[in-house]
Amino acid sequence: MKLGNSLLTLAAGLSSVLAGSVGEVHYPTLFRRNGTEDLQSFKGAVLLKNGEQTSCEVALMYSTFGFVSAACLDYTDTSAKTLNSSTTYEVAISSGLTSSYGRFKASKVTPNPGYDPVSYANNIALVEFESNGSEFVNYIASWRQDWIEFYYTRRSLSNAASSTWNSPATTMYNAQPDLNACAQANSLFMYNQKDLICNELSTPSIMNASCSIPYASIYGVNDPNAAVAALYSHSAVHNDGSLCGNEKIYNYFIVMQNYVHWAMSIMGKKAPVFHTRIPEYTEVLDPSYSMIIPKSSVEGVAVYAGDLYHLGATISQASDEKDGGLSPGAIAGIILGLLALLALLGYFIRKKLKERYESNRVRRWWFFGRFEKEEKPEDAGPPMADPNDPQRPSTYPVQF
Ligand SMILES: *[C@@H]1O[C@H](CO)[C@@H](O)[C@H](O)[C@H]1NC(C)=O
Ligand SMILES: *[C@@H]1O[C@H](CO)[C@@H](O)[C@H](O)[C@H]1NC(C)=O
Ligand SMILES: *[C@@H]1O[C@H](CO)[C@@H](O)[C@H](O)[C@H]1NC(C)=O
Ligand SMILES: *[C@@H]1O[C@H](CO)[C@@H](O)[C@H](O)[C@H]1NC(C)=O
Repeated sequence: MKLGNSLLTLAAGLSSVLAGSVGEVHYPTLFRRNGTEDLQSFKGAVLLKNGEQTSCEVALMYSTFGFVSAACLDYTDTSAKTLNSSTTYEVAISSGLTSSYGRFKASKVTPNPGYDPVSYANNIALVEFESNGSEFVNYIASWRQDWIEFYYTRRSLSNAASSTWNSPATTMYNAQPDLNACAQANSLFMYNQKDLICNELSTPSIMNASCSIPYASIYGVNDPNAAVAALYSHSAVHNDGSLCGNEKIYNYFIVMQNYVHWAMSIMGKKAPVFHTRIPEYTEVLDPSYSMIIPKSSVEGVAVYAGDLYHLGATISQASDEKDGGLSPGAIAGIILGLLALLALLGYFIRKKLKERYESNRVRRWWFFGRFEKEEKPEDAGPPMADPNDPQRPSTYPVQF
Protein backbone atom coordinates (compact mmCIF):
# COMPACT_ATOMS: atom_id res chain seq x y z
CA MET A 1 0.00 0.00 0.00
CA LYS A 2 1.25 3.43 -0.97
CA LEU A 3 0.73 5.15 2.36
CA GLY A 4 2.21 2.20 4.19
CA ASN A 5 5.27 2.41 2.00
CA SER A 6 5.75 6.09 2.56
CA LEU A 7 5.43 5.58 6.31
CA LEU A 8 8.10 2.92 6.14
CA THR A 9 10.32 5.18 4.06
CA LEU A 10 9.81 7.96 6.54
CA ALA A 11 10.54 5.61 9.42
CA ALA A 12 13.67 4.30 7.76
CA GLY A 13 14.86 7.82 7.01
CA LEU A 14 14.33 8.86 10.59
CA SER A 15 16.02 5.91 12.17
CA SER A 16 19.07 6.17 9.96
CA VAL A 17 19.46 9.84 10.69
CA LEU A 18 18.92 9.46 14.38
CA ALA A 19 21.11 6.40 14.59
CA GLY A 20 24.12 8.63 14.06
CA SER A 21 23.40 10.76 17.06
CA VAL A 22 21.82 8.51 19.65
CA GLY A 23 22.82 4.99 18.68
CA GLU A 24 20.35 2.30 17.74
CA VAL A 25 16.91 3.73 17.21
CA HIS A 26 14.07 1.38 16.56
CA TYR A 27 10.98 3.40 17.21
CA PRO A 28 10.60 6.58 15.20
CA THR A 29 7.35 8.17 16.15
CA LEU A 30 6.18 10.64 13.58
CA PHE A 31 3.17 9.40 11.74
CA ARG A 32 0.61 10.59 9.33
CA ARG A 33 -2.29 12.29 11.02
CA ASN A 34 -5.49 10.30 10.82
CA GLY A 35 -7.61 11.09 13.88
CA THR A 36 -6.89 10.09 17.44
CA GLU A 37 -6.36 6.47 16.32
CA ASP A 38 -2.94 7.76 15.21
CA LEU A 39 -2.01 7.80 18.87
CA GLN A 40 -1.53 4.06 18.71
CA SER A 41 1.69 4.85 16.87
CA PHE A 42 3.12 6.62 19.91
CA LYS A 43 4.65 5.49 23.12
CA GLY A 44 2.97 6.96 26.16
CA ALA A 45 4.08 7.00 29.76
CA VAL A 46 2.74 7.42 33.27
CA LEU A 47 4.72 8.38 36.35
CA LEU A 48 4.66 5.89 39.24
CA LYS A 49 5.46 6.96 42.79
CA ASN A 50 6.51 4.31 45.26
CA GLY A 51 5.13 1.70 42.86
CA GLU A 52 1.71 3.31 42.53
CA GLN A 53 0.45 4.97 39.39
CA THR A 54 -0.23 8.69 39.43
CA SER A 55 -2.48 10.73 37.17
CA CYS A 56 0.67 12.31 35.72
CA GLU A 57 1.76 11.45 32.21
CA VAL A 58 5.38 11.68 31.17
CA ALA A 59 6.08 13.33 27.80
CA LEU A 60 8.81 11.09 26.46
CA MET A 61 11.74 12.44 24.49
CA TYR A 62 14.22 9.61 24.53
CA SER A 63 14.26 6.12 26.00
CA THR A 64 15.85 7.72 29.06
CA PHE A 65 14.36 11.24 29.32
CA GLY A 66 10.94 12.81 29.55
CA PHE A 67 9.06 15.82 30.87
CA VAL A 68 6.61 15.54 33.75
CA SER A 69 4.69 18.11 35.78
CA ALA A 70 6.82 19.36 38.70
CA ALA A 71 3.73 19.30 40.93
CA CYS A 72 3.67 15.52 40.55
CA LEU A 73 6.89 15.18 42.56
CA ASP A 74 7.14 15.02 46.35
CA TYR A 75 8.95 17.73 48.26
CA THR A 76 9.96 18.01 51.88
CA ASP A 77 8.82 21.61 52.14
CA THR A 78 6.03 23.74 50.73
CA SER A 79 8.48 25.94 48.86
CA ALA A 80 9.23 22.85 46.73
CA LYS A 81 12.93 23.45 46.89
CA THR A 82 13.95 20.04 48.22
CA LEU A 83 12.71 16.76 46.85
CA ASN A 84 11.71 14.11 49.35
CA SER A 85 14.42 11.57 48.74
CA SER A 86 12.30 8.72 50.16
CA THR A 87 9.95 8.78 47.19
CA THR A 88 10.93 6.41 44.41
CA TYR A 89 9.83 7.23 40.89
CA GLU A 90 9.33 4.96 37.94
CA VAL A 91 8.13 5.51 34.41
CA ALA A 92 5.68 2.99 32.97
CA ILE A 93 5.82 3.12 29.18
CA SER A 94 3.17 1.87 26.81
CA SER A 95 3.84 0.97 23.23
CA GLY A 96 0.95 2.25 21.24
CA LEU A 97 -2.22 2.54 23.25
CA THR A 98 -2.44 -0.58 25.38
CA SER A 99 0.61 -2.77 24.93
CA SER A 100 3.33 -2.47 27.49
CA TYR A 101 6.87 -1.43 26.65
CA GLY A 102 8.17 -1.64 30.16
CA ARG A 103 8.58 -0.07 33.54
CA PHE A 104 11.77 1.80 34.29
CA LYS A 105 13.28 3.22 37.47
CA ALA A 106 13.89 6.95 37.48
CA SER A 107 17.50 7.72 38.29
CA LYS A 108 17.00 11.46 38.58
CA VAL A 109 14.15 13.96 38.69
CA THR A 110 14.88 17.65 38.24
CA PRO A 111 12.14 20.22 38.80
CA ASN A 112 12.49 23.37 36.75
CA PRO A 113 14.34 25.92 38.93
CA GLY A 114 11.55 28.42 38.24
CA TYR A 115 8.79 26.07 39.45
CA ASP A 116 6.49 27.97 41.77
CA PRO A 117 4.26 25.66 43.84
CA VAL A 118 1.88 28.52 44.68
CA SER A 119 0.97 29.76 41.21
CA TYR A 120 2.16 26.60 39.41
CA ALA A 121 4.34 28.72 37.15
CA ASN A 122 6.95 26.65 35.25
CA ASN A 123 5.24 23.47 36.44
CA ILE A 124 7.62 21.13 34.66
CA ALA A 125 10.37 18.70 35.57
CA LEU A 126 12.78 16.49 33.70
CA VAL A 127 12.83 12.82 34.61
CA GLU A 128 15.75 10.61 33.67
CA PHE A 129 15.15 6.87 33.76
CA GLU A 130 16.78 3.58 33.00
CA SER A 131 16.22 1.82 29.71
CA ASN A 132 16.33 -1.83 28.74
CA GLY A 133 19.06 -1.08 26.23
CA SER A 134 16.77 -0.34 23.29
CA GLU A 135 16.66 3.31 22.39
CA PHE A 136 13.72 5.23 21.02
CA VAL A 137 12.85 8.82 20.25
CA ASN A 138 9.59 10.67 20.78
CA TYR A 139 9.20 14.20 19.47
CA ILE A 140 8.07 17.27 21.36
CA ALA A 141 5.99 19.65 19.23
CA SER A 142 7.80 22.95 19.47
CA TRP A 143 5.90 25.55 17.47
CA ARG A 144 2.48 26.37 18.79
CA GLN A 145 1.40 28.21 15.66
CA ASP A 146 1.69 24.92 13.77
CA TRP A 147 -1.01 23.14 15.63
CA ILE A 148 -4.20 23.03 13.67
CA GLU A 149 -5.82 20.35 15.81
CA PHE A 150 -5.36 18.89 19.26
CA TYR A 151 -5.48 15.32 20.50
CA TYR A 152 -5.98 14.77 24.23
CA THR A 153 -4.98 11.65 26.12
CA ARG A 154 -5.37 10.29 29.59
CA ARG A 155 -3.41 7.08 29.93
CA SER A 156 -3.76 4.74 32.88
CA LEU A 157 -2.78 1.29 34.03
CA SER A 158 -5.20 -1.37 35.19
CA ASN A 159 -2.30 -2.91 37.08
CA ALA A 160 0.87 -0.95 37.73
CA ALA A 161 2.78 -3.95 39.07
CA SER A 162 2.36 -5.96 35.88
CA SER A 163 2.38 -2.89 33.59
CA THR A 164 -1.06 -3.66 32.20
CA TRP A 165 -2.61 -0.69 30.44
CA ASN A 166 -6.20 0.45 30.21
CA SER A 167 -7.38 1.72 26.88
CA PRO A 168 -6.56 5.41 27.24
CA ALA A 169 -9.18 8.10 27.11
CA THR A 170 -8.51 10.05 23.93
CA THR A 171 -10.33 12.80 22.15
CA MET A 172 -9.83 15.42 19.51
CA TYR A 173 -10.87 18.85 20.72
CA ASN A 174 -10.27 22.09 18.89
CA ALA A 175 -12.76 24.59 20.28
CA GLN A 176 -11.41 27.99 21.25
CA PRO A 177 -11.63 28.47 25.01
CA ASP A 178 -13.19 31.55 26.53
CA LEU A 179 -9.85 33.28 27.10
CA ASN A 180 -11.38 35.92 29.37
CA ALA A 181 -12.97 33.34 31.63
CA CYS A 182 -9.73 31.30 31.67
CA ALA A 183 -7.78 34.41 32.67
CA GLN A 184 -10.30 35.51 35.29
CA ALA A 185 -10.06 32.15 37.01
CA ASN A 186 -6.29 32.04 37.10
CA SER A 187 -3.70 34.82 37.32
CA LEU A 188 -0.97 32.59 35.93
CA PHE A 189 -2.93 32.16 32.71
CA MET A 190 -3.69 35.86 32.62
CA TYR A 191 0.01 36.65 32.36
CA ASN A 192 1.30 33.63 30.45
CA GLN A 193 -1.14 32.72 27.73
CA LYS A 194 1.55 31.65 25.28
CA ASP A 195 2.80 29.01 27.72
CA LEU A 196 -0.56 27.56 28.71
CA ILE A 197 -3.55 25.93 27.05
CA CYS A 198 -6.88 26.33 28.84
CA ASN A 199 -10.03 24.25 28.48
CA GLU A 200 -12.91 22.72 30.39
CA LEU A 201 -12.51 19.16 29.09
CA SER A 202 -12.58 16.20 31.42
CA THR A 203 -12.80 12.43 31.45
CA PRO A 204 -13.90 9.98 34.17
CA SER A 205 -11.21 9.22 36.72
CA ILE A 206 -10.07 5.60 36.95
CA MET A 207 -10.36 5.98 40.72
CA ASN A 208 -13.99 7.07 40.67
CA ALA A 209 -16.04 6.95 37.49
CA SER A 210 -18.46 9.57 38.83
CA CYS A 211 -15.63 12.03 39.19
CA SER A 212 -14.24 13.55 36.03
CA ILE A 213 -10.71 14.85 35.88
CA PRO A 214 -8.71 16.69 33.21
CA TYR A 215 -6.87 14.93 30.41
CA ALA A 216 -3.14 14.46 30.96
CA SER A 217 -1.38 15.30 27.68
CA ILE A 218 -2.10 17.29 24.57
CA TYR A 219 -0.69 16.45 21.14
CA GLY A 220 -0.29 19.25 18.63
CA VAL A 221 -1.40 18.05 15.23
CA ASN A 222 0.45 19.53 12.37
CA ASP A 223 -0.79 17.86 9.22
CA PRO A 224 0.58 15.30 8.47
CA ASN A 225 2.26 14.79 11.83
CA ALA A 226 1.41 14.92 15.50
CA ALA A 227 3.69 15.25 18.51
CA VAL A 228 3.17 15.74 22.22
CA ALA A 229 2.92 19.44 22.98
CA ALA A 230 1.61 20.09 26.48
CA LEU A 231 1.16 18.42 29.87
CA TYR A 232 -1.56 18.94 32.44
CA SER A 233 -0.46 21.60 34.90
CA HIS A 234 -3.31 22.66 37.18
CA SER A 235 -7.04 23.36 37.50
CA ALA A 236 -8.94 26.32 38.87
CA VAL A 237 -12.31 25.62 40.49
CA HIS A 238 -14.75 28.42 41.17
CA ASN A 239 -16.33 28.90 44.61
CA ASP A 240 -13.42 27.02 46.17
CA GLY A 241 -15.05 23.88 44.83
CA SER A 242 -13.60 20.41 44.47
CA LEU A 243 -12.52 18.80 41.23
CA CYS A 244 -15.46 16.41 41.44
CA GLY A 245 -18.11 18.95 42.34
CA ASN A 246 -20.48 21.02 40.24
CA GLU A 247 -18.55 24.27 40.19
CA LYS A 248 -17.04 25.68 37.02
CA ILE A 249 -13.56 24.21 36.38
CA TYR A 250 -10.83 25.45 34.07
CA ASN A 251 -7.85 23.23 33.33
CA TYR A 252 -4.45 24.57 32.30
CA PHE A 253 -1.77 22.67 30.37
CA ILE A 254 1.83 23.76 30.18
CA VAL A 255 3.17 24.05 26.63
CA MET A 256 6.61 22.44 26.65
CA GLN A 257 8.29 24.28 23.78
CA ASN A 258 9.85 27.04 25.86
CA TYR A 259 11.46 24.52 28.22
CA VAL A 260 13.24 22.49 25.58
CA HIS A 261 16.53 24.33 25.96
CA TRP A 262 16.34 23.95 29.73
CA ALA A 263 15.95 20.19 29.19
CA MET A 264 18.89 20.19 26.77
CA SER A 265 21.05 21.88 29.37
CA ILE A 266 20.42 18.94 31.72
CA MET A 267 20.43 16.15 29.15
CA GLY A 268 23.63 17.48 27.62
CA LYS A 269 22.30 16.73 24.17
CA LYS A 270 19.82 17.96 21.63
CA ALA A 271 16.14 17.47 22.24
CA PRO A 272 13.98 15.80 19.62
CA VAL A 273 11.54 18.51 18.63
CA PHE A 274 9.30 18.90 15.66
CA HIS A 275 8.02 22.00 13.90
CA THR A 276 7.32 23.25 10.42
CA ARG A 277 9.93 25.34 8.81
CA ILE A 278 8.45 28.77 8.41
CA PRO A 279 10.31 32.05 8.56
CA GLU A 280 8.41 33.12 11.68
CA TYR A 281 9.77 30.18 13.67
CA THR A 282 11.64 31.24 16.77
CA GLU A 283 12.60 29.35 19.85
CA VAL A 284 13.44 30.27 23.41
CA LEU A 285 17.15 29.50 23.73
CA ASP A 286 17.45 30.59 27.35
CA PRO A 287 17.61 27.52 29.62
CA SER A 288 16.43 29.68 32.54
CA TYR A 289 13.27 30.76 30.73
CA SER A 290 10.47 31.52 33.19
CA MET A 291 6.81 32.40 33.00
CA ILE A 292 5.75 35.63 34.63
CA ILE A 293 4.95 34.69 38.22
CA PRO A 294 1.79 36.44 39.43
CA LYS A 295 1.92 38.17 42.80
CA SER A 296 -1.46 36.98 43.94
CA SER A 297 -4.07 34.37 43.18
CA VAL A 298 -7.74 34.78 42.41
CA GLU A 299 -10.00 34.92 45.44
CA GLY A 300 -12.58 32.18 45.80
CA VAL A 301 -10.91 29.88 43.30
CA ALA A 302 -9.34 26.63 44.49
CA VAL A 303 -6.32 25.43 42.54
CA TYR A 304 -5.40 21.76 42.14
CA ALA A 305 -2.32 20.23 40.56
CA GLY A 306 -0.08 17.20 40.60
CA ASP A 307 -1.26 13.67 41.16
CA LEU A 308 -5.05 13.95 41.08
CA TYR A 309 -5.45 10.35 42.30
CA HIS A 310 -3.86 11.25 45.63
CA LEU A 311 -4.82 14.85 46.01
CA GLY A 312 -4.17 15.50 49.68
CA ALA A 313 -0.48 16.08 49.18
CA THR A 314 -0.61 18.54 46.35
CA ILE A 315 -3.72 20.63 46.85
CA SER A 316 -3.04 24.31 47.10
CA GLN A 317 -5.97 26.39 48.20
CA ALA A 318 -5.77 29.89 46.83
CA SER A 319 -5.10 32.40 49.53
CA ASP A 320 -7.80 34.84 50.48
CA GLU A 321 -5.62 37.66 49.35
CA LYS A 322 -7.44 39.90 46.91
CA ASP A 323 -5.92 40.22 43.51
CA GLY A 324 -5.46 43.84 44.43
CA GLY A 325 -2.32 44.47 42.39
CA LEU A 326 -4.27 45.31 39.27
CA SER A 327 -5.16 48.88 38.51
CA PRO A 328 -7.94 49.60 35.99
CA GLY A 329 -5.11 50.52 33.59
CA ALA A 330 -3.53 47.12 34.01
CA ILE A 331 -6.88 45.43 33.45
CA ALA A 332 -7.39 47.46 30.27
CA GLY A 333 -3.90 46.45 29.22
CA ILE A 334 -4.68 42.81 29.77
CA ILE A 335 -7.89 43.10 27.77
CA LEU A 336 -5.97 44.75 24.95
CA GLY A 337 -3.38 41.99 25.21
CA LEU A 338 -6.11 39.37 24.90
CA LEU A 339 -7.53 41.09 21.84
CA ALA A 340 -4.07 41.27 20.29
CA LEU A 341 -3.58 37.57 20.99
CA LEU A 342 -6.92 36.78 19.35
CA ALA A 343 -6.00 38.88 16.33
CA LEU A 344 -2.65 37.12 16.09
CA LEU A 345 -4.34 33.73 16.37
CA GLY A 346 -6.80 34.73 13.65
CA TYR A 347 -3.90 35.79 11.48
CA PHE A 348 -2.13 32.47 11.89
CA ILE A 349 -5.25 30.42 11.32
CA ARG A 350 -6.06 32.35 8.17
CA LYS A 351 -2.48 32.02 6.99
CA LYS A 352 -2.45 28.33 7.73
CA LEU A 353 -5.74 27.68 5.96
CA LYS A 354 -4.45 29.62 3.00
CA GLU A 355 -1.25 27.62 2.94
CA ARG A 356 -3.16 24.43 3.37
CA TYR A 357 -5.56 24.85 0.54
CA GLU A 358 -3.73 26.81 -2.06
CA SER A 359 -0.40 25.09 -1.93
CA ASN A 360 0.52 23.21 -5.04
CA ARG A 361 4.15 23.52 -4.06
CA VAL A 362 5.76 20.95 -1.83
CA ARG A 363 4.91 21.69 1.75
CA ARG A 364 7.92 21.93 3.95
CA TRP A 365 8.28 20.17 7.28
CA TRP A 366 11.25 20.36 9.42
CA PHE A 367 12.98 18.71 12.28
CA PHE A 368 14.99 20.65 14.68
CA GLY A 369 17.25 19.90 17.55
CA ARG A 370 20.13 22.25 17.71
CA PHE A 371 21.76 24.18 20.47
CA GLU A 372 22.85 27.04 18.30
CA LYS A 373 20.73 29.56 16.53
CA GLU A 374 23.31 30.24 13.84
CA GLU A 375 22.25 27.53 11.46
CA LYS A 376 21.23 29.17 8.22
CA PRO A 377 17.90 28.16 6.71
CA GLU A 378 19.55 26.67 3.61
CA ASP A 379 21.84 24.58 5.80
CA ALA A 380 19.06 22.63 7.34
CA GLY A 381 18.57 20.08 4.61
CA PRO A 382 15.82 19.47 2.08
CA PRO A 383 12.17 19.62 3.02
CA MET A 384 10.02 16.73 4.00
CA ALA A 385 7.15 16.52 1.62
CA ASP A 386 3.46 16.02 2.08
CA PRO A 387 2.92 12.27 1.62
CA ASN A 388 -0.08 13.06 -0.55
CA ASP A 389 1.92 15.17 -2.93
CA PRO A 390 2.58 13.21 -6.12
CA GLN A 391 5.76 15.22 -6.60
CA ARG A 392 7.21 14.32 -3.26
CA PRO A 393 10.68 12.89 -3.23
CA SER A 394 10.79 9.18 -2.53
CA THR A 395 13.19 9.47 0.39
CA TYR A 396 13.27 11.88 3.27
CA PRO A 397 16.78 12.84 4.18
CA VAL A 398 16.20 14.53 7.47
CA GLN A 399 18.85 16.49 9.20
CA PHE A 400 18.72 16.51 12.91
C1 LIG B 1 -7.46 6.19 9.14
O1 LIG B 1 -7.82 5.32 10.19
C2 LIG B 1 -8.93 4.49 9.88
C3 LIG B 1 -9.30 3.73 11.14
O2 LIG B 1 -8.18 3.15 11.74
C4 LIG B 1 -8.57 3.58 8.71
O3 LIG B 1 -9.67 2.77 8.37
C5 LIG B 1 -8.18 4.43 7.52
O4 LIG B 1 -7.73 3.61 6.45
C6 LIG B 1 -7.06 5.39 7.90
N1 LIG B 1 -6.80 6.29 6.79
C7 LIG B 1 -5.56 6.58 6.41
C8 LIG B 1 -5.44 7.55 5.29
O5 LIG B 1 -4.57 6.11 6.96
C1 LIG C 1 8.90 11.75 52.55
O1 LIG C 1 8.32 10.56 52.01
C2 LIG C 1 8.15 9.53 52.98
C3 LIG C 1 7.72 8.27 52.24
O2 LIG C 1 6.83 8.53 51.20
C4 LIG C 1 7.14 10.00 54.00
O3 LIG C 1 6.92 9.00 54.97
C5 LIG C 1 7.68 11.27 54.67
O4 LIG C 1 6.72 11.79 55.56
C6 LIG C 1 8.01 12.33 53.63
N1 LIG C 1 8.70 13.42 54.28
C7 LIG C 1 8.26 14.68 54.23
C8 LIG C 1 9.07 15.70 54.96
O5 LIG C 1 7.26 14.99 53.64
C1 LIG D 1 13.17 -3.58 25.42
O1 LIG D 1 11.77 -3.73 25.53
C2 LIG D 1 11.07 -3.77 24.30
C3 LIG D 1 9.60 -3.85 24.60
O2 LIG D 1 9.34 -4.82 25.57
C4 LIG D 1 11.56 -4.94 23.47
O3 LIG D 1 10.91 -4.92 22.22
C5 LIG D 1 13.05 -4.83 23.28
O4 LIG D 1 13.53 -5.95 22.59
C6 LIG D 1 13.74 -4.73 24.61
N1 LIG D 1 15.15 -4.53 24.37
C7 LIG D 1 16.07 -5.24 25.05
C8 LIG D 1 17.49 -4.95 24.68
O5 LIG D 1 15.77 -6.04 25.93
C1 LIG E 1 -16.92 9.57 43.61
O1 LIG E 1 -17.18 10.88 43.13
C2 LIG E 1 -18.47 11.35 43.47
C3 LIG E 1 -18.66 12.68 42.76
O2 LIG E 1 -17.80 13.63 43.25
C4 LIG E 1 -18.59 11.47 44.97
O3 LIG E 1 -19.86 11.93 45.33
C5 LIG E 1 -18.31 10.11 45.60
O4 LIG E 1 -18.28 10.24 47.00
C6 LIG E 1 -16.99 9.57 45.12
N1 LIG E 1 -16.85 8.20 45.60
C7 LIG E 1 -15.77 7.80 46.25
C8 LIG E 1 -15.74 6.36 46.65
O5 LIG E 1 -14.85 8.57 46.53
